[in-house]
Order: sequence, then structure tokens, then C-alpha cells
Amino acid sequence: MSAIAEAAPAKLNLYLHVVGRRDDGYHELDSLVAFAEVADRVTVQPGVARIALRGVDLPPVGPRLAISGPFGPALMGESPAQNLVIRAAYALAARLGREADAMIALEKVLPIASGIGGGSADAAATLRALARLWGVPVTDQRLYEVAASLGADVPVCVAGRSCYFGGVGEVLEEAPALPETFAVLVNPGVPVPTPAVFKARRGAFSAPARFTGAPADAAALAALLRERRNDLTDPALTVAPVIAAVLAALDDTDGCLLARLSGSGATCFGLYADAEHAAAAARSIQAAQPRWWTKAARLLPTPADAPPLPTGL
Ligand code: C5P
Repeated sequence: MSAIAEAAPAKLNLYLHVVGRRDDGYHELDSLVAFAEVADRVTVQPGVARIALRGVDLPPVGPRLAISGPFGPALMGESPAQNLVIRAAYALAARLGREADAMIALEKVLPIASGIGGGSADAAATLRALARLWGVPVTDQRLYEVAASLGADVPVCVAGRSCYFGGVGEVLEEAPALPETFAVLVNPGVPVPTPAVFKARRGAFSAPARFTGAPADAAALAALLRERRNDLTDPALTVAPVIAAVLAALDDTDGCLLARLSGSGATCFGLYADAEHAAAAARSIQAAQPRWWTKAARLLPTPADAPPLPTGL
């Protein structure tokens, strides 16, 4: 069988309200999630389940992972047991009652610990790719259950399409279709640990702020989003003050409809009505700040034939 590849697109929180805190310390969120057309890539192939040495079966070989790409070296220090791709492979194999025999290649294009899904998107792409390799529909509820056990952001990344995100990520609901919109993603190269940002959050909780009608165009979407926030912006600024400069740089570009932090940061995004303005904005930020990671990318439209979102996670 030939290799199976799955994209792990960057996740953007178009708005993110922190609406409460559970007894276990996790924060309940209300967020409109979208995905951008810039992605890590996960490729899987059949692996070796077991090898025998002089007629004696050795313990299972387990998944093998090869990492490449510009942000690959940032993951190299991580122990295999921590790596979400390896954990996803073991967890799915256990749930399906089979060996985790697979060769996995991860091309790491997106910055790590940066508020755009990263490890969660990679884990989700691994689940989708292994499901295909192992003959399971990618809509199988077991994929989502495994995803939820791996991390709060993994189920929405398995769905891989724009939707409302509630609870701590276990409640995924249909959102109005997004109009054609282009984004510029900018990361200043400062990893921001999510727990530190939630810990720095102060003050009252926000109300959920879902809207129902589909915005006619990118400007109408931005107008709706401007009435909402990312509640993690202030706490993220205390952890990584450079975020203020990133937001200002995006805001300054021609045609920027909205500049906002994604997730707990430090990646910020600007929204634009057309590809030309997004490309020009990315070029100007890149020229002014060559050390920042800057990418122009279309927001992925919701496919007309998208499978239903999972329930009961
Ligand atoms: O899900 P993830 O492993 O990214 O979460 C890391 C940490 O961020 C959690 O242990 C928790 O401290 C905090 N967090 C939170 N509420 C969320 C998500 C994360 O408080 N919804």
C-alpha cells in the first residue's frame, strides 16, 4: 500500500470568549474556529508489528516517527512518550484493538506552542491518516473519543472545518458558513505555554456570543468579530509582550479588516477581503520583521458535503 498523507491545517480562533471555569481548573470556552490553508503534513505507511529474534517474539515495535520541516528541530528534544503524534497512534491502536504498526512522517511547517493547533492538529491528522490506513471511516466516533482523550483541541482538529467550539472542546456545533476570507498569520518566535496564559487570566467571565446568519463577505465577518474578542489577549500579553507589536504590525497593513490573537498565542492573524491584500501585507511584515514567521493563507471554506460534527464526547 502506498503512503497516505493528511494535512494538519493551522487552527484560528476567530473569537474566543472564556465563559467559565470547571472544578478541575479547565476553562470553558465559546469560540468560532476556522482553519487556514497552511499546514503541517502527516504521512503514514504500514509498519512492522513485531520482530522475532532467533525464533523469540520481541515486544511490539510500535509506531516509528520521522520529523522534518522548518520547525522539526524544535520537536527533536521531546521524548517520544510526550509526542502527541506517537500518543495518537498508540491510543487509536488500543481503541481499535490492534497493533500500532505504522511508519509516520511529520513535516513540521507551523511554529510550535503558538496558539494555532500545532500538536493538536498533528495528532488529529495522524488519527485521520491511520484510520484510512487501518480501514476505519474518518467519521468513526472512536476517532473523536481518542481525540478528546489526547487534548481539548484535538477533536475540532479531527473535524478540520469551521465550527463553534464549546465546553473545553468537547462540544462542537455547526456555525454559519464563512465567506471567502484571507488571513495573514504572524508568529514572533516566542513559544507561549497555554497553562501560563490561563493562569494569568483575571476578572469576570464573558457571555457566549454566537451569531446565526452567514456573513455576506469578509468585511461583514470582521464587523461581527470586532464585537467579540479573544479573552486570552491580555493574559497572553503579560506572558509575551511582543504580541502587542505583532497586532500593531497587522493592524497597520493595507486592507486589514481585523487583527487578533489566536488561542493563547503568540500567533496573531489579520483578515483581508482578497488574496492580493493578504499577500502584500505578508510581504511588508516579512520585510520589516524578517525573524517573525509570516504566512498569507486563505481560510478553508466549509465543504458543502462536510460530515456531521460528533456529539456526546
Ligand atoms: O489542553 P491543553 O493540554 O492544551 O491545556 C493545557 C493547560 O491549559 C491545561 O492544563 C489548563 O491549565 C489550561 N487550559 C484551561 N482551559 C482550557 C484549555 C487549557 O485552563 N480550556
